[in-house]
Amino acid sequence: MAIKKVGVVGGGLMGSGIAQISAQSGYDTIMLEVNQELLDKGVDRVHGAWSMLHGKGKITEEQVGEYRGRFRGTLDLAEFADRDLVIEAIIENLDQKRSLFERLDATVQPDALLVSNTSSLPIIEMAAVTKRQGRVAGLHFFNPAPVMKLVEIVRTISTTDETVETLRDFARSLGKTPIVAKDTAGFVVNFLLIPYMLSAIRMYEHGLASREDIDTGMKLGCGYPMGPFELLDYVGLDTTLYAAEAIYAEYPDPTYAPPTLLRRMVQSGRYGKKNGRGFYNLDER
Ligand code: CAA
Ligand code: NAD
Repeated sequence: MAIKKVGVVGGGLMGSGIAQISAQSGYDTIMLEVNQELLDKGVDRVHGAWSMLHGKGKITEEQVGEYRGRFRGTLDLAEFADRDLVIEAIIENLDQKRSLFERLDATVQPDALLVSNTSSLPIIEMAAVTKRQGRVAGLHFFNPAPVMKLVEIVRTISTTDETVETLRDFARSLGKTPIVAKDTAGFVVNFLLIPYMLSAIRMYEHGLASREDIDTGMKLGCGYPMGPFELLDYVGLDTTLYAAEAIYAEYPDPTYAPPTLLRRMVQSGRYGKKNGRGFYNLDER
């Protein structure tokens, strides 16, 4: 099917980046948030990115105008009725995602595709509350969504070939390289990446090295652009904890168990870059 109109649910770190590239790539794009303050924040992030790209001479003023014309925020889910594709990017919580998919299924035209940007939760559990299981899949972007080149298409036991092919074309139209993963916790990348970040926390918890030295080790020793603690702060400690819990629930092996320190940091309200406090005190940096 041809996708022309896109809806993005959630205007946080990921939703705003996904909405940005969707509008940039020619799609009429609406982004939904839960309240005006968060909506304004998300919309400002998208507009800010275009101003930054214009400031760097990467896009023209005309392009900024064009992109802005194709993008708007809303607080009303009913505006998603005519969308061809809806990308869910809300908090990593299965109950909330299932309840949202139920409402999306009742609102959005029946032929539309509904996809989740979840880091690790089972897509089939979201598909199961809809009457269109074949048109539900995972479409997993990487942070920062406008920059990272990969998109995982997550195929459930019900997702049709047509859905996978439409998503493959859509991902390519955004300038991304798609890979197809089965609907197992963590898909391809997070199944490898999350235990790596959890191991770094355990090393630090056990006093084997400082955060800074672990980060420097992985950056200079392996050529990674960020060390594990910088990446944890960047991804979000809450998101990492919920993703680890989801993977551990499916693979109850200590490798995937969230370390106590990660839990305590999230319980204390340290979420990383998104609120300025994480493994590093980002406000002071
Ligand atoms: N739109 C378009 N371009 C943007 C942009 C935006 N919103 N934001 C930044 N850019 C561009 C910048 O213009 C810049 O381009 P130039 O180099 O051509 O000027 C480029 O992106 C890099 O930006 P910066 O110079 O600000 O930053 P940097 O060079 O320090 O790189 C980084 C930042 C790309 C994040 C890099 O540090 C990196 O790759 N880090 C690792 C990120 C990573 O591993 N992400 C995956 C996380 S896991 C995940 O996402 C899955 C999950 O489910 C949890
Ligand atoms: P975030 O906390 O930055 O943003 C989530 C946003 O969703 C919030 O602004 C919240 O107000 C909004 N929201 C919650 N319920 C909503 C609803 N019912 N309707 C509309 N908006 C709602 O989180 P994030 O980091 O953007 O993560 C979003 C999703 O993307 C999660 O499933 C996460 O696992 C996944 N993901 C995150 C990353 C990452 O690096 N942070 C990378 C890939 C995938």
